[in-house]
Parts: sequence; structure tokens; C-alpha cells
Amino acid sequence: MTTVTVRTPAKINLGLNVGRPRPDGYHPLATVYQAIALYDEVKARPAQPGEFTVSVTGEGQDVVPLDDTNLAVRAARLLAKRAKVNEGVALSIHKLIAVAGGLAGGSSDAAAALLACDALWGLHSSREELTGLAAELGSDVPFCLIGGNAIGTGRGEVVSSVLARGSYEWVLAYASTGLSTPEVFAEFDRLDAVRADEEPEVPEVLMSALRTGDPYAVGMALHNDLQPATIRLRPAIRRTIEFGEDFGALGSVVAGSGPTCLFLTADSEHAIDLAVALSSSGVCRLVQRANGPVPGARVVT
Ligand code: C5P
Repeated sequence: MTTVTVRTPAKINLGLNVGRPRPDGYHPLATVYQAIALYDEVKARPAQPGEFTVSVTGEGQDVVPLDDTNLAVRAARLLAKRAKVNEGVALSIHKLIAVAGGLAGGSSDAAAALLACDALWGLHSSREELTGLAAELGSDVPFCLIGGNAIGTGRGEVVSSVLARGSYEWVLAYASTGLSTPEVFAEFDRLDAVRADEEPEVPEVLMSALRTGDPYAVGMALHNDLQPATIRLRPAIRRTIEFGEDFGALGSVVAGSGPTCLFLTADSEHAIDLAVALSSSGVCRLVQRANGPVPGARVVT
């Protein structure tokens, strides 16, 4: 029986600048994405026409919905509808990416489901077609298809790759429970109520740091406008960040809408040392290491 397997990376935001909400409720963003080598695996197997199922193992398996609200199922249904095919699919997802952790885990699974079903059903959709569907599914989904280093504008769904140097060694500290993205944006609005209306811009200092490939410069340029809001909702994040900084991380930042904390290290040895220290510190639930950038979702069988 045919099975298509797709490996799909977590995303992090090296810079995330957020503007005032638009009339549709979304916030305009200027962000610098990086895909990192922390992967979920999505398998697609044939099913009866109209039958769409999903099973989940691994990180967060008890909190991922298994019904039609699952983003990977929505991706499969959307592709079938737009391609006008009478197909079904049985998806199975093995997760390493934290659920509701600010790492686009669900978005990445959706990107993978698009690719997997496209291959399973022999559709040969173009990149543009898949990216268009990805943008309908969520703001981070197009980037998860593309990967690497990229700038995201609009609500995050308008993605263009950037030329950058270097490979970066990250340590990720997972929190015990996730955060809801809309809740974090709502808290951002409350905190940001007095800020003047301005279009968010990609910080030049981060872009030039990425062009040099110097992890020290990139570490200093990490920035997330949502960080104060995530700390308001989860004050414990502050302790995690402080622990990593005291241990000599080159830079630290909350991942996307949090609550995962990211630390940039000088090399793999430094990353191992920090990961070991964080693991025994009691300031987080779980520690992961990953380097980036890596490509986006890819069929591996
Ligand atoms: O696009 P996505 O479905 O992943 O977004 C989830 C939620 O996060 C949105 O419903 C919205 O509340 C918030 N969001 C936002 N501005 C963005 C992206 C997401 O307010 N640019």
C-alpha cells in the first residue's frame, strides 16, 4: 500500500515586529523566519473517498484535536476540494514540535499534509498553488513549505527567502503548557494601546547580522514584540530567559507567540552545555536542541 512520508520543520522568528490590528483583526507583521531541524513527520495513506482521518503520537499527543478542526485534516480537505478530486486520506503525525509553543507545529503539519496528499493523489500541483492554499490555512503555513531564512509580511503569509550566511545552534526550553496565539495577540493589543500607528518594519540590524553569519551579532539582534505580552500571561518565562542568559547564551527570545524560549549558542558544544544546565534547572519542562536554517517540508519517501 502506498504511503507518503513528509518531514516538516519547526519555525522560529528571529525578529517579530507587530503593528496595530487590521480591520480583519489580523496584525500586520514584519518578521524574519528561520526553519530549524526539529521535525514532525506526517504520513499519508490511501482512504475511502471522502474519508479524512488523523492520528497523533509524540509531543502533545493528548491535546491535538483529531477531528475536522485538526489543521492537517483541514489542509487535506482543502486540497481535495480545490483540486476537485474525490479522494480521502488517513494521516498519521508523529510530533517532536511542541503544541501551542510558538513554533508553528500545527502550521507545519498542515504544510506537510498539503505536500503528502498532493503526492498521494498524484496531483502535481505547482508550488504557487500549494503556497496559495497554505496562506488560506494559516499565517505561518506558507513559510513552513519554503523553509530556510525568509522575511514574512502581511499577516506573516507573504514570504520571501533571504540570502543569509551561517548555521545557528539553538536550544529550546519547552513550557509545561501551551499558549493560545489569539490570546497573546489580544494581550499585545492591551499592552500596546498607546503606541502610535506605524507599519512594522524588518529590523536592519538583524538583516545585516544575518548577512555576516556572526552568531554573536544575530544573538544581540533577536527581538520579539510579542514577548512582553507572553510574559504578562506566563510570568515564569522571565525566569527561563534569565537562566539561559546567565548561562552565557548569545541571545534569547520567546518563540513567536510563546511560551517556548529560544537561546542562541556559539557552537554545538555550547548548546549541549546549556541544554544540560536547563534540563536540570527546573525552569522548563523539556529541552530540545536544533540547528537552522533547514529547508521546509519535504517528501522523504
Ligand atoms: O493565521 P493563524 O490562523 O495561524 O492565526 C491564528 C490567530 O492568531 C488569528 O486568528 C489571530 O487571532 C492571530 N494572529 C494575528 N495576526 C497575525 C497572525 C495571527 O492577530 N498576523
